[in-house]
Amino acid sequence: MRKQIAAANWKMNLTLQQGEQLLTHILAAAKPSKQNHQVVFAVPFPYLAMAQERISGMAGTFIAAQNCSDKKSGAYTGEVSVEMLQSLGIRFVVLGHSERREYFNESNRLLAEKLNICLENKMQPIFCCGEALQIREAGTQNEFVAQQLKESLYHLSGEQLQQVVIAYEPIWAIGTGKTASSAQAQEMHAFIRQQLAAQYGATVADSISILYGGSVKAANAVELFSQPDVDGGLVGGASLIAEEFVAIISALK
Ligand code: PGA
Repeated sequence: MRKQIAAANWKMNLTLQQGEQLLTHILAAAKPSKQNHQVVFAVPFPYLAMAQERISGMAGTFIAAQNCSDKKSGAYTGEVSVEMLQSLGIRFVVLGHSERREYFNESNRLLAEKLNICLENKMQPIFCCGEALQIREAGTQNEFVAQQLKESLYHLSGEQLQQVVIAYEPIWAIGTGKTASSAQAQEMHAFIRQQLAAQYGATVADSISILYGGSVKAANAVELFSQPDVDGGLVGGASLIAEEFVAIISALK
């Protein structure tokens, strides 16, 4: 049974103290209730150690970085390597969020490199893909997402791909309050799984968790997560409010 995942993406929000308080509230109220449920908190780099310590010993709960370097180590001022993350006990890293693609020029090719370094070091990537509004309006979202998958993922072996979590995040739905309908989400998730099946076979494709991201909140999580190919969510704004994120965790199927 593939994993159902509620992943919080704090982005560049909260002070250390606010983050600690938020985690304390959420962890006290919500625990992954099924064997195949996972809860992940993608927190800013300076809070990783604090967050990792907070979740220690909690089954099914993990901390993620929001990015990592494509380089192993060396003279890259300001960068954070996979090895550094590992030394803190971190197991997940978000890669290719649309904000990184847009503001930091991360290309499909660069992301392929980042995926490689993560997988070589047993770090699980949460790989983000998704189209902008003008692409959706032109009706070419499937081709666009297929290209992102092809250029960043298809050099991986099936075994490597099974370590990757995919997050479909239509850019027009991120932070806008405009969620994709559950039908739109299901349609794209099924398309992504079908693309993976064509490349790697149905067994591999069926084992990959595909999360939806873009204005997920307590009020729409049950409906979105109930779709057969939606395996949870990557949540920005609503993950900063304890009650919201607790409700989102309990919406996992
Ligand atoms: P949002 O962000 O939930 O605030 O739309 C989602 C994301 O960017 O991962």
